[in-house]
Amino acid sequence: MKEKIDALLHEMEHFEVSNTESLENFRLKYLSKKGLIPALFADFKSVAPEERKTIGILLNELKTKAQDFLKEKQESFENQIGAATSTLDTTLPSGHFRGGRHPISIVRKEINSIFERLGFVISEGPEIEDDFHNFSALNFPPEHPARDMQDTFFIHKNPDIALRTHTSSVQVRVMEQGKLPVRVIAPGRVFRNEAISARAHCIFHQIEGLYIDKDVSFADLKQTLYYFAQEFFGKETRIRFRPSYFPFTETSAEMDVSCNICGGKGCNICKYSGWVEILGCGMVDPNVLDSCGIDSTIYTGFAFGMGIERITMMKYQINDLRLFFENDLRFLQQFEAMQ
Ligand code: DAH
Repeated sequence: MKEKIDALLHEMEHFEVSNTESLENFRLKYLSKKGLIPALFADFKSVAPEERKTIGILLNELKTKAQDFLKEKQESFENQIGAATSTLDTTLPSGHFRGGRHPISIVRKEINSIFERLGFVISEGPEIEDDFHNFSALNFPPEHPARDMQDTFFIHKNPDIALRTHTSSVQVRVMEQGKLPVRVIAPGRVFRNEAISARAHCIFHQIEGLYIDKDVSFADLKQTLYYFAQEFFGKETRIRFRPSYFPFTETSAEMDVSCNICGGKGCNICKYSGWVEILGCGMVDPNVLDSCGIDSTIYTGFAFGMGIERITMMKYQINDLRLFFENDLRFLQQFEAMQ
């Protein structure tokens, strides 16, 4: 018996294991149920009683050696596989790169949080919209010239499906849900077929606001936007409203804020007027409420929409809109510290 054990040990030590396949062969040959080591344990019965103690020890040692060898090889193969498939190079110096938010994201977050403090909740809608949500429900009749105000990208030349031209489409989606009162803001990307220049781009970002309840008045609209302007641009900021036209609001207005660069004295940012236009707004047209299944004899509401790029340009004195889309690190790194 002792010779058999020695012979097996010798053989095992010379067993060639170079990959997982040969390791499995090793396991089958020596350790599996029908393997040589269990066979020796089966023969143990025939060992003379006086030899049992020594042989028992030798047998157990043999088994442990085989098991340890198997385990060690398994682990080393697993590590090799891990190293080969991982792209993480732990020896690479860490460098000093600190990620930062894009200025548009910084400003979007700040605007969101101001309206959240007033009880508005964030809502989002799809970037690919149908005619109903982008135009018809917002009181743009077919062939209405107001549709030309917004050069639209249609999808597959299908006149019913387009990239949304404004986030006002989210108003419709929220109203359709029929849960009243409504107090939402909808940030998102919008698309218009415009030539790219320092002042215009075919992709940009807007934040839409919508508030619907009983007895909502223009005074509520003014106070909400006044609060926003002061929180965002500073306590000394003044606002003014100018009459305007949008198909989905009646009365409609545009809101200016006093220029935060010159404090209203006049500079090249405000074109020496002391005021900068930042948003469109108005009382939701009763036709819009009715199209979305809300009874306009009971409910009223206000809405507003602002371009995030324009506000970001004002805030950080950026004079070219294209910078937001070029991802030039020299531009983006200037905003690293801001969150
Ligand atoms: N959707 C308008 C645009 O893209 C902005 C706007 C104006 C939104 C007035 C409104 C609003 O909700 O009441 O130019």
